[in-house]
Amino acid sequence: MLAGNLTAKGAATMDVSTCSISLPDVSLRVACAGQGRPLLLVHGFPLDHAMWRGQLAGLAADFDVIAPDPRGFGSSAVTPGKVTMDGFARDLAALLDALDVADEVVLCGLSMGGYIAFQFARLFPERLAGLVLCDTRAAPDTPEAAAARLQNADKVERSGPEELVTGMLPKLFSPLTQAQEPALVEATRQIMLKTDRRGIAAALRGMAERPDARPMLSSIRVPTLVLAGHDDAISPPSEMRTFAEQIPCARFVEIPRAGHMAPLEQPEAVNATIRTLARARAPGAT
Ligand code: MLT
Repeated sequence: MLAGNLTAKGAATMDVSTCSISLPDVSLRVACAGQGRPLLLVHGFPLDHAMWRGQLAGLAADFDVIAPDPRGFGSSAVTPGKVTMDGFARDLAALLDALDVADEVVLCGLSMGGYIAFQFARLFPERLAGLVLCDTRAAPDTPEAAAARLQNADKVERSGPEELVTGMLPKLFSPLTQAQEPALVEATRQIMLKTDRRGIAAALRGMAERPDARPMLSSIRVPTLVLAGHDDAISPPSEMRTFAEQIPCARFVEIPRAGHMAPLEQPEAVNATIRTLARARAPGAT
């Protein structure tokens, strides 16, 4: 393991262990901190594990926090072409095996990470202790949105991510964050710009064909939090509240003064909510 550190908003610089884990067909970079029930954090598109700096710092006393860069992102290896949400979810299971994590995990995914979390819940329900669905959607892309993603994938592969990043960045943060935290916005922009163009394209193609998660909502059996930034312009809170109502053990929580990047914008409020899952048990569990 290599020692590293991240500076989290509202927290001192903290030590985080990072390492590369070789899975059968890919090597993934993973940041880890703390001990306790495993909390697996899956970031949004096109970011990296640093998105979770506030959770790596603030939840290490409650959880064994594990924050990978999925394939194609951050310092993980890239698979060109297409990576489906199902494929990302299978990587997470393989990663848990490689890390010898046998306990059930609380899985927290933001946006694209949420799409992956739905597929993990479908494929590996026995590995879940809880779910946190942050600023994400259960509905698939409309045909028009899917077509636009495929076009964007080709464009990014050809010309790089600048245009995509310029279009996306203003939608990620609340007006308050944009006005008061330019350094946070700029750091996020830099991470997006550094992401490998083939990784971005592959994830765009995977997201374009992601399945509709709405039919599976009523079969989710673990304690679930659905967290929405009040000003989320990408995953509207009203839509998130509606899908939360379909999950039997879900609680919907709106995070004030936050947009699509709620865990990065308001880490303390998000952490306090996630902490409620540290000791939660699925209904009927002994
Ligand atoms: C994300 O934040 O992961 C993206 O907004 C997901 C998407 O493009 O649907």
